[in-house]
Amino acid sequence: VRKVTTHRLSEMKLRGEKISMLTSYDYSMAQLVDEAGVDVILVGDSASNVMAGHETTLPITLNEMIYHGASVVRAVKRAHVVVDLPFGTYQGDSKEALISAIRIMKETAADSVKLEGGAEVIESVKRILSAGIPVMGHLGLMPQSIHKFGTYTVRAKKDAEAEKLISDAKLLEETGCYAIVLEKIPADLGKKVASKLKIPVIGIGAGGGVDGQVLVIHDMLGITQQFSPRFLRRYHNLAAEIKGAVGSYINDVKSQDFPNEKEQY
Ligand code: KIV
Ligand code: NA
Repeated sequence: VRKVTTHRLSEMKLRGEKISMLTSYDYSMAQLVDEAGVDVILVGDSASNVMAGHETTLPITLNEMIYHGASVVRAVKRAHVVVDLPFGTYQGDSKEALISAIRIMKETAADSVKLEGGAEVIESVKRILSAGIPVMGHLGLMPQSIHKFGTYTVRAKKDAEAEKLISDAKLLEETGCYAIVLEKIPADLGKKVASKLKIPVIGIGAGGGVDGQVLVIHDMLGITQQFSPRFLRRYHNLAAEIKGAVGSYINDVKSQDFPNEKEQY
């Protein structure tokens, strides 16, 4: 199988073929997601919420992201694998950013890294790119900055914030990012940014006018139950299926239906 490269992703934008992206954090799930044919697998720092049960993405460490990244990469044959740089490993100092990105590339064998922010982190973006590591940007709702905003509401509804987002998106493109994620912004703004940029713009709650879509796999499969933003389409109710299967197992153990004659040595 031909790996999805950053070059192929930009060709998809040129052709008008939408890019499909989903998160994964472990080997077994990543194998299924890759075999189903998704273009990009994001090892998101949403692992902090979905895998570890933290309230925010801030606590997850670089070592933990590397564990998830390496597990995913071992399973994937076709999809482009991008790993999030976690909070505190790239913002302050571009040299630290480069060291963090190099650790991800060496220790996971992923294809690229993603980080949040525009002008504030541009020195870090430059330095990582200078080492030949492809970078995906992330603007709009940036969960690592939750304490600056206090809520996970829609971003860039006001003109000033929208202008800043557009200039950050242009800056990330000029600096050499191969794609950007836009999270939870008005659809009109998502469409505008996608039309201004040559690099692919992948949205989550950014409307249909962008070049691709990303969702957290546990959300779209209906494993997570509490989280219900407007942008989330649930393709399954796995929570109910899993609880049903586990309930049946418990009953079979209690009733001694399991194991039966054929299920023992
Ligand atoms: O960590 C994550 O899952 C993400 C996506 C929501 C884009 O960054
Ligand atoms: Na993320």
